[in-house]
Order: sequence, then structure tokens, then C-alpha cells
Amino acid sequence: MRGKLGWLNPGVVILGALWGAVAAPAVAQSIAEKVEVCASCHGQNGKPIDKTIPIIWGQQLGYIYIQLRDFKRGDRKNEIMQPIASSFEKDDMLAIAEYFSKKTWPDLGQPRSPKDVSGRALSANHSVGCTGCHLDQFQGDGTVPRLAGQSREYLTKTIADFRTRARGNNPGMSDLMLATTPDDLAALEEYLSGL
Ligand code: HEC
Ligand code: HEC
Repeated sequence: MRGKLGWLNPGVVILGALWGAVAAPAVAQSIAEKVEVCASCHGQNGKPIDKTIPIIWGQQLGYIYIQLRDFKRGDRKNEIMQPIASSFEKDDMLAIAEYFSKKTWPDLGQPRSPKDVSGRALSANHSVGCTGCHLDQFQGDGTVPRLAGQSREYLTKTIADFRTRARGNNPGMSDLMLATTPDDLAALEEYLSGL
């Protein structure tokens, strides 16, 4: 028994070494390495470096995944995000979405909207039913995004993009945004950013 093991062991060691040599170059970048680049825009601490860049820390998993998929497909057009998302396969996108969804949503310190603005936003919400999908306090769930505390400049930009269909990945949201008056939308943007 001892002798047999003594004969087998070097073989196992050699096999192990060979396996290591073959497997090493194929080892994929870890998720931590893949998300390093994101911080240069979406922020080292979750606070985006520019106001037109959205918060992705603490965003809903399903929503982040759908956006990466849509950027890659070109359904959501953006010259910055398209090439980045194109380098990912489905499994990467899911893992990246999970990674960011588990982070804590940062506080951008945007001011609460004054009473007249929140009044207008809440009555627009009442007629359109935003919270029917975006849920209480606009926290989102699954493939529906959190809006509470999102950057005001980004909200303004992306709502405008829905209206012109420059953001064409969800025609239903474009229809809804077109059916809402610009004044109501402006109130909603200010209200949501201050939540
Ligand atoms: C060079 C800057 C830059 C880098 C790097 C970058 N992003 Fe973005 N990202 C943006 C901008 C700008 C937008 C907004 C696009 C728009 O207005 O439609 C965006 C949008 C997004 C969105 C959509 C969020 C939403 O609320 O709809 C997701 C998800 C996202 N990025 C994930 C990532 C991930 C993951 C990485 C790293 C793998 C990354 N981004 C790297 C600039 C960047
Ligand atoms: C029928 C369900 C539904 C209703 C009602 C709805 N939304 Fe949405 N909304 C969605 C979904 C789903 C998405 C994600 C679209 C996508 O995948 O790009 C979204 C995306 C958004 C985004 C983009 C967020 C981001 O991070 O880019 C904004 C802003 C938004 N909605 C605002 C509103 C406002 C304001 C209202 C009410 C006036 C509203 N929505 C009503 C389902 C809804």
C-alpha cells in the first residue's frame, strides 16, 4: 500500500502541476477585477463622479442586468456604456448586477423638495400610478429600478431620453413619460432626487 502510494504521488504532483500550467492562462478575470473600471465613473464610494451618471450601488439586481443586456444589444444606446457592456457575457452581467445590488445606496445629499413641488409630484404619481410599479417610496424591485435619491440631473436626462425615444429599450416607459406633462415630470424629478 505504502509503496503504491509512493509511486502514485509524484504522478499526482506532476498532473497537478500540468493542470496548473494549462488552467492558469484560462482563468477568467474575477468579478472584482471586472468591476474596477466602473468606479472611475460610477464612483469609488458609489457616488458618481458626474451628475449625469446614475447611482448603481444598491440598485435592483434585475434592473442592472436588463440595462447591461440592453446596452450590449444596442436597445439602449449610449456610446460609453455600449462598448463596456459588449465585453460581458450573460453570466458576467448577472454577477456584476448582483455585486452592485448588494452595495449600500449612497446619499448624494440632494435637498428635499419644497411642499408645492412634492404636492405636484404626488398628485402626478396619483394619476399616473408610478408607485404601482416603482413601489412604495420609489424603492423599486426586480427589474423595476429604484428612483428614490437618484441623481436629479440623471433623472432629468433619462426621462428626456425616454420622451424622445433616444432611450428606446422600454417603449412602455416612453409612452408613459410622453403622457405626463413636462411640469409634472420636472416636479417628479426634484421630488425623487430628494427622497
Ligand atoms: C466612462 C464612464 C463610465 C464607466 C467606466 C462605466 N459607466 Fe455605467 N454609465 C455611464 C453613464 C454616462 C451612464 C448613463 C447612460 C445614459 O445616460 O443612458 C451609465 C449607465 C449605467 C447603467 C444604467 C443605470 C440606470 O439607472 O439605468 C448601468 C447599470 C451601468 N452604467 C453599469 C456600469 C458598470 C457595471 C460598469 C463597469 C463594468 C460601468 N457602468 C462603467 C458611465 C460609465
Ligand atoms: C407600468 C409600470 C411602470 C409605471 C406605471 C412607471 N414606471 Fe418607470 N419604469 C418601469 C420599468 C419597468 C422601468 C425600467 C425600464 C428599463 O428596463 O429600461 C422604469 C424606468 C424608469 C426610469 C429610469 C430609471 C433609471 O435608473 O434610469 C425612470 C426615471 C422612471 N421609470 C420614472 C417613472 C415615473 C416618474 C413614473 C410615473 C410618472 C413611472 N416611472 C411610472 C415601470 C414603470
